[in-house]
Amino acid sequence: MARGTPTNGLSASKKCRTIRRTSTSSRRYSGARPPGTTGAAILMLTGRTMWLPAGEMHRCPTDGTSAFEGVFGRPFFDHFARDADTAAVFHDGTATMSDAENQPVAAAAELPEKGTVVDVGGGHGGFLAEVLRHRPGLRGVLHDAPHVLAGHRLADDEDLTGRWSVAEGDFFTGVPGGDVYLLKRILHDWRDDQCVALLRNCRRALRPGGRVLVVDAVVPEDASPHRAKALELMTMASLVGRERTEADFRALFEAAGLRLARSLPTSTVLDIVEGVPDGTA
Ligand SMILES: C[S@@+](CC[C@H](N)C(=O)[O-])C[C@H]1O[C@@H](n2cnc3c(N)ncnc32)[C@H](O)[C@@H]1O
Repeated sequence: MARGTPTNGLSASKKCRTIRRTSTSSRRYSGARPPGTTGAAILMLTGRTMWLPAGEMHRCPTDGTSAFEGVFGRPFFDHFARDADTAAVFHDGTATMSDAENQPVAAAAELPEKGTVVDVGGGHGGFLAEVLRHRPGLRGVLHDAPHVLAGHRLADDEDLTGRWSVAEGDFFTGVPGGDVYLLKRILHDWRDDQCVALLRNCRRALRPGGRVLVVDAVVPEDASPHRAKALELMTMASLVGRERTEADFRALFEAAGLRLARSLPTSTVLDIVEGVPDGTA
């Protein structure tokens, strides 16, 4: 943790082994973050928005809300939409953590050679960029809330010029039309009924022959250990979702008019669960 240096927007004191934001960090954390640094992830994981709700987990709300709402008075993502500083820490932290998994997940995905891929809730676009690098014939749409898209990094890679666009929106209202939908680390944030609403929006906008790729951990049915179960503790404190089994994903797909076609492992903690329109061979 103490390896953060001013080059990644942090100052580290060897004496007390703390990391704090420097005066330049806000600027760096709004999209100009150098790739491969861990500082943003550390700030996110150790920030108040993570540990305060964790301290309230014993209350375990059973009304479909989260401990986070009890602490901050509004749901997780609504909070970030209203608080630019904490939003920057969260979204840069998420992007940094995703950097480590984007390439292997993109390599494991079954992607068409041509068409439009929509990254729903795609954050700063690191995963979409990997997918586009992997499949030079694809075009990409990065979909997320306006304040998140303001920090996207798609323009950083000149080789991708002309192949991407951004689309601001609320995925519970609708998603742009496409041939492939990517939902990476999305469904585990939400309740089943919300996941079904989101998947239905993808199903409705899906072009003929298209598919939905849910990228989340698939946890075992039994109580055996799985790395995603540690993450689930954080999800339980701050959000309303959970990690799911393959049977859980199958049920969500079916309720949304999709069929689980296959589930592919990756070399990361994440799996790729593929849904196609119901009735498709
Ligand atoms: C856990 S992050 C995952 C980001 C990215 N897919 C990744 O794997 O790094 C969840 C993303 O969903 C976005 N999001 C949450 N609610 C949304 C909504 N209603 N409409 C669109 N995007 C939303 C957040 O802004 C955030 O970027």
